[in-house]
Amino acid sequence: MSGSVTVRVPAKVNVQLAVGAARPDGFHDLANVFLAVGLYDEVTVTPADELRITCSGPDADQVPLDRTNLAARAAIALAGRHGIEPDVHIHIAKDIPVAGGMAGGSADGAGALLACDALWGTGASREELLAICAELGSDVPFSLVGGAALGTGRGELLTPLEVGGTFHWVFAVADGGLSTPVVFREFDRLTEGTDVPLPEASPVLLDALRTGDTAALADALANDLQPAALSLRPSLADTLSAGTAAGALAALVSGSGPTTAFLAKDADSARAVAEALLASGTCRAARVAASPAAGATVVG
Ligand code: C5P
Repeated sequence: MSGSVTVRVPAKVNVQLAVGAARPDGFHDLANVFLAVGLYDEVTVTPADELRITCSGPDADQVPLDRTNLAARAAIALAGRHGIEPDVHIHIAKDIPVAGGMAGGSADGAGALLACDALWGTGASREELLAICAELGSDVPFSLVGGAALGTGRGELLTPLEVGGTFHWVFAVADGGLSTPVVFREFDRLTEGTDVPLPEASPVLLDALRTGDTAALADALANDLQPAALSLRPSLADTLSAGTAAGALAALVSGSGPTTAFLAKDADSARAVAEALLASGTCRAARVAASPAAGATVVG
């Protein structure tokens, strides 16, 4: 066992996030339309004396380097199933916003899993890799497959979706993160005493994805966690308005936030919206990315 393996993994945006009532296990049933976007983390695994994690990138100091990191948990889970010691150095080159609602941690879990599988020659089937991903977290299976998919259950049961074109996005990165469980708890608080409908994917939205119709997708974007994210972080409303004032076709909170996502008409418009968002002072950084993007891929 020698050398190293590098895997590139995309971020995601939820173009629809329909959230049902809390289940007895505390999770929420979802109709979660995932779209992978071209912002990537790279995960490199190298044989080592013991499991350790390092991270580079502008927000590296916010990434946990212990066994709570999904990349470490992925290596341990795969090694455990195959009677191997998880003795690898995992390096994460981080470009996806941390705790931002773009599945950056999930991306690192899926990336480490695929990289360790290649390094150790485990030969795990796609089904086994997906099962381990689902154990690691609700969004991790999608980070492995990429493209676009409808996630049901708690988000881990994936049906691949067709995408008929390229969509251009701007992502406004906020200061600090939001904790996903805290945002779901705020959703529960805000919906207490109301009849929360069963989550269902919107046929109009799925059609817009399938035909690559940006204007139709803009009209159909929806995130049931947005009121909860805005309640916890009211300043996000200013970021959303700054992006639409700058010409974005639509704006929404990405997943549980606090990253906000803006759908633009084309690549030029996306660049203009990103500049205006930065100039507005309502975000820390603005990133341009296109979708769909491929899932976790071995690149070296
Ligand atoms: O699955 P994952 O570990 O990413 O979920 C993090 C937290 O988000 C869960 O502990 C739960 O509080 C919340 N969650 C939820 N319903 C989902 C997915 C996540 O309530 N479908």
